[in-house]
Amino acid sequence: MNGRDGTRVVHAGLPAPEPGAPFLPGPVFAAPYHLDPAKGPGINGYGRSDNPTRRGLEAAIGELEGGSALAFASGQAAITGLLLATLRPGDAVMLPSDGYYAVRAFGESTLRGLGIRVVPVPTAGPYPSFAGVRLVLLETPSNPSLDVCDVRAVAGAAHAAGALVAVDNTTATPLGQRPLELGGDVVVASGTKGLTGHSDMLLGYVATNDDDLLTRLTVWRTQTGGIPGAFDAWLAHRSMATLDLRLARQTANAAAVATALAARSDVDAVRWPGLPADPSYRIATAQMRRIPGVVSFDLGSADRVVRFLTASALVFAATSFGGVHTTADRRAQWGDDTAPGFVRLSCGIEDTDDLLTDVSAALDQAYGHVP
Ligand SMILES: Cc1ncc(COP(=O)(O)O)c(C=O)c1O
Repeated sequence: MNGRDGTRVVHAGLPAPEPGAPFLPGPVFAAPYHLDPAKGPGINGYGRSDNPTRRGLEAAIGELEGGSALAFASGQAAITGLLLATLRPGDAVMLPSDGYYAVRAFGESTLRGLGIRVVPVPTAGPYPSFAGVRLVLLETPSNPSLDVCDVRAVAGAAHAAGALVAVDNTTATPLGQRPLELGGDVVVASGTKGLTGHSDMLLGYVATNDDDLLTRLTVWRTQTGGIPGAFDAWLAHRSMATLDLRLARQTANAAAVATALAARSDVDAVRWPGLPADPSYRIATAQMRRIPGVVSFDLGSADRVVRFLTASALVFAATSFGGVHTTADRRAQWGDDTAPGFVRLSCGIEDTDDLLTDVSAALDQAYGHVP
C-alpha cells in the first residue's frame, strides 16, 4: 500500500477486501493441517513452517521495512538466529559495545565458544578496519546510550571489505528509519517494543532483500523452531495499525520531557537524539524519519531514582520501552555499564502536559525540593 505512514500501517499486510470477510482475519490455530491425501503438503502443512496469521504479519512488516520479513518468537530469537545462521568458526563479527546487553552476552559466551572472534565497537565509532569481518551488527539508536551511527557510511566501508551489514531497528521501528534503504543488508528487531507497543507480547523479526539470506534464515527458523504463536502474530498485526499515532505522541512527549530535563540544573547527562545539543542530533535528523520516545538521564544515585519512581504517579518502574505507558528503568540493575543513577525513560502516549507535570513534580520530590 502506497501513501503516508498513517495509511501504510492501517493497511499493511491486509488481504484484498472480500464481502463477508473480516478486515484482519482472526488467528489460525493449527499444528497440523488437513493434507491432500494424494498430493501431500500444500501451502499449509505443519505449524512450525506454515501459518497464515504469521504470514499476514510478515507481509505487514515486510511492507514497512521494504523487504521480505520473517517473524520470530522474540528479538533475541531473531538476532541470535541471524548470528548463528551466518557465522562460522574462524569468522569475525562486530557487535555494538553499547547496545542491548543480551546480544553482547551471547557474543561473549556462545559465539566465542564456537571460535568466532567478537569485535566490540561503540555505536558512535570509531569503526576499526572491516578486513576479515563476516558480519557487522549495528544498533542505531543504541540501547541504552542512544548513540547513532551513519548507516550509509558504515555499510559502504563494510561492504567494500566484503562484510554483511545488519541493523537492529528496534528503537526506531520501520516508520522511524529504513535501514535497507540506507544500505543495510538485513534488519533485525525486537517487535516487543515500539512496533507492537502495548507491553503484552514478545516478538522479533528479520527483514531482507537478499534471497539467499532469506532462505538460510527460513531454514534456520524451521529447524530451530523459534516462531511466534498465532495469537501473538495476530495481536502484533492488529497493534501495528496504530504505530503512526503512537510514535507521534511518544516523540512529542519525549521532546517535551527532554527539553524540561535539560533545563534543570539538578539532572545530568540528558540524552535524546532530537535535542539540537545532543551528540546524535546531526546524524539522527539526517538519517531518521522520526526520533523515538526514549530519553536518558542521570539522577546521580540509585536512591534518587527510587525516590523519583516512588513519587511519580504516571511513570511505571519497568524495563523494556516503546509502549503506550511511560516507563523508566535504572539500567545498572540489569548489568549495563551505566552510572548507578542512569535512567532510561520511555515516553508513552499519555497527555503531554500531564506527563510533564508528573515527571517534574516527581523529580522535585526526589531532590527534596518539596515537602
Ligand atoms: C535494541 C534491542 N534489540 C533486541 C532486543 C531483544 O528483544 P526481545 O526482548 O524481544 O528478545 C532488545 C530488548 O530490549 C533491544 O532493546
